[in-house]
Amino acid sequence: MKGKKGLFITFEGPDGSGKSTQVRLLGAYLTEQGFDPVLTREPGGTRIGEKIRDIILDQGNAEMDALTESLLYAASRAQHVAEVIRPALDAGCAVLCDRYVDSSIAYQGCGRGLGSIVADINSLAVGGVVPDLTILIDIDPEACFDRIGKRVIREGGDRMESEDLAYHRAVYDGYLELASLHPDRVKRVDGNGGVDAVSDDVRKVVNAFLLDRLNASSGAPARDVPDDPANTRPEQTTVHAAKGERS
Ligand code: TYD
Repeated sequence: MKGKKGLFITFEGPDGSGKSTQVRLLGAYLTEQGFDPVLTREPGGTRIGEKIRDIILDQGNAEMDALTESLLYAASRAQHVAEVIRPALDAGCAVLCDRYVDSSIAYQGCGRGLGSIVADINSLAVGGVVPDLTILIDIDPEACFDRIGKRVIREGGDRMESEDLAYHRAVYDGYLELASLHPDRVKRVDGNGGVDAVSDDVRKVVNAFLLDRLNASSGAPARDVPDDPANTRPEQTTVHAAKGERS
């Protein structure tokens, strides 16, 4: 991407990890700090993406092949990148996205066993738009399974939530592997505490990231930057994406 660059933060975690609440809370925090964040989610985030979401999550589509599923998530994502994420980043906005490519790697690559083909499909879909920072809400899959189970009994649940514990464990292991493969980008936040405790930890991670970015762009030592790096809006700093990750 040329010209102004925004800030791209994704949230990841197992179903029932409380991730969506944390996206909203971080959005409110960044707004207080003077950002104007764009909050979005996957699958969905666009009119077309929401239609694809309905197909993917429909309990009636039990016969869906794993490759079809992976391609549908990627199709929703391609539209999302083209219509929402890339334009917002080009305009210098902070984009907070509830799930992104890492979900596909964990759920389809590891959970469904499709392996590395998922990364290939997605690299085509996102065209180099990768997150600057990914917050992984790290919570025991058994605890999540319990929470989802109650929801499935209460509200019926969707096709993905209805998978068994072994599947959700494989997804969780996939996330841990991603965190160890990309330690600079993927930051684990303990999701076992209450909403406020998790939110505090998320803010710490984001503030540390912004501080690093500010230091990298100014070349100044840490003591020369403001105490609250969130006060620096994204268009005033330069995003240093990993080599080849964002063109
Ligand atoms: P959703 O109701 O949005 O769940 P959550 O609130 O936990 O994000 O449903 C999305 C489901 O789709 C969820 O089970 C995770 C799954 N998923 C994938 O399997 N692959 C993907 O690439 C994405 C984005 C989501």
